[in-house]
Amino acid sequence: MNPSSSATYNYTVVRQFAIMTVVWGVVGMLVGVIIAAQLAFPALNFDVPWLTYSRLRPLHTNAVIFAFGGCALFATSYYAVQRTCQTRLFAGPLAAFTFWGWQLVILAAAVSLPLGYTSGKEYAELEWPIDILITLVWVAYAVVFFGTIATRKVRHIYVANWFYGSMILTVAVLHLVNSAAMPSGWMTSYSAYAGVQDAMVQWWYGHNAVGFFLTAGFLGMMYYYVPKQIGRPVYSYRLSIVHFWALIFTYMWAGPHHLHYTALPDWAQSLGMVFSLILLAPSWGGMINGIMTLSGAWHKLRDDPILRFLIVSLSFYGMSTFEGPMMSIKTVNALSHYTDWTIGHVHSGALGWVGLVSMGALYYLVPRLFGKEAMYSTKAIEVHFWVATIGIVLYAVSMWISGVTQGLMWRAVEPDGTLTWPAVPARHADHGVERVQDGRDRQGGGCAGARRPRARLTTRRTPWHSVTRRSRPTSSS
Ligand code: HEM
Ligand code: HEM
Repeated sequence: MNPSSSATYNYTVVRQFAIMTVVWGVVGMLVGVIIAAQLAFPALNFDVPWLTYSRLRPLHTNAVIFAFGGCALFATSYYAVQRTCQTRLFAGPLAAFTFWGWQLVILAAAVSLPLGYTSGKEYAELEWPIDILITLVWVAYAVVFFGTIATRKVRHIYVANWFYGSMILTVAVLHLVNSAAMPSGWMTSYSAYAGVQDAMVQWWYGHNAVGFFLTAGFLGMMYYYVPKQIGRPVYSYRLSIVHFWALIFTYMWAGPHHLHYTALPDWAQSLGMVFSLILLAPSWGGMINGIMTLSGAWHKLRDDPILRFLIVSLSFYGMSTFEGPMMSIKTVNALSHYTDWTIGHVHSGALGWVGLVSMGALYYLVPRLFGKEAMYSTKAIEVHFWVATIGIVLYAVSMWISGVTQGLMWRAVEPDGTLTWPAVPARHADHGVERVQDGRDRQGGGCAGARRPRARLTTRRTPWHSVTRRSRPTSSS
């Protein structure tokens, strides 16, 4: 580390966000493990209202996306923008405000969601006073980030900043439009939209939260930390610019794939499907560019576990952005929607891509932030890498198997037109499936999150074994 770095750059706020990334990562994934356990054993809510699944599930999604993912984005973007602009973070006190303000948002979410306050919009559940705080913090973030770019000492704006910048701008617009509401009390409100328009605005927001928060922001991370860790320039700078514009243009239109076979006009659903299919190309542009940055240096993968985190995250990114377009095809979605398949897709993206790229970037950052030569133990990183990767694979694979099984069971009909799996026995079957699959959530997820070597147990309780054993209905129609 350059000894003058700490004086030249503002590392305090980067350090704070880096530490909280780890803290919220542990908390958010632990809540994930708890709700997975509740799916299998509902009694685990102990009949306490604020421990019920319906309240803890949004707590999980908010904690992992906005607390863990958000802190990772703040930390890595504040570091990368200073280094690539060769200047100190603009408006230091405002940067400090983004840290404390964001933690306050997270604490407000951690209290209000279990208490049952929700706007009912997925990934935008927080009530209007918290929404206003989010807006203030986000505007401050934009001022700090773009202010740093405006006062840069180099002419060029490195591509990582393009991705981070597009995330900051778009999330601001998405949040303002989707959260527009009429307050009816301190913690209650009515959406500004009604009916299918409300659903369309919500999923325009929801899909772009995936596209910009969970994708563009983390691609910014990838474009800085992958070349840094490899020690080579990005494979194709031209490709990075081309896929940047293609990605941000295409994402905007794909939201309706969340509303197939609903009251949304059919043409809008088909439009969403077509744009989702097109989205494969710019997404893979990013994956290829990242992985090919390794060309000529593949041997580094052998003994650098940090690099393995980064490169395997790109493989998960490629996989989930292939799967997503396939699931957006209406006939495929007819099977996958409402099943665990969606959950498998979500976590191969969210854990495999977002989780692993963040952990890789943190391992790069932490020694540099704290003036150390390297991380405390490379061996531990190695173990973490394998346990996390195996856990995520087990999680995703079991969800695919249970998802397809659920989809096929729900659509099966007898020759006389009655359901092969009528409601009550199908619920039993589903519970049987859930017990195992969500056992898998806990075990696979536990591997990924808590890093405990539970893989042996997981492989023993294979999903197909119990699907056949437990899912047989008690009566036939
Ligand atoms: C130890 C790791 C994790 C475990 C055990 C876990 C577990 C779960 C469970 C059980 C659900 C509910 C599934 C259902 O309703 O059937 C869920 C939903 C979700 N999780 Fe996780 N999760 C983990 C990590 C993450 C991470 C790191 C992210 C994001 C960065 C994430 C994002 C989500 C999202 C977005 C949903 C909602 C999916 C939907 O509504 O379709 N999870 N998770
Ligand atoms: C080309 C890229 C992608 C496309 C076209 C796509 C498409 C889809 C489709 C069709 C669904 C199912 C919608 C439904 O049946 O309700 C879905 C769900 C989801 N995807 Fe993706 N996906 C992509 C990439 C990703 C990535 C990289 C992530 C995470 C980092 C992600 C996170 C999610 C989440 C959280 C949901 C669940 C939303 C919900 O119902 O709560 N997707 N995606």
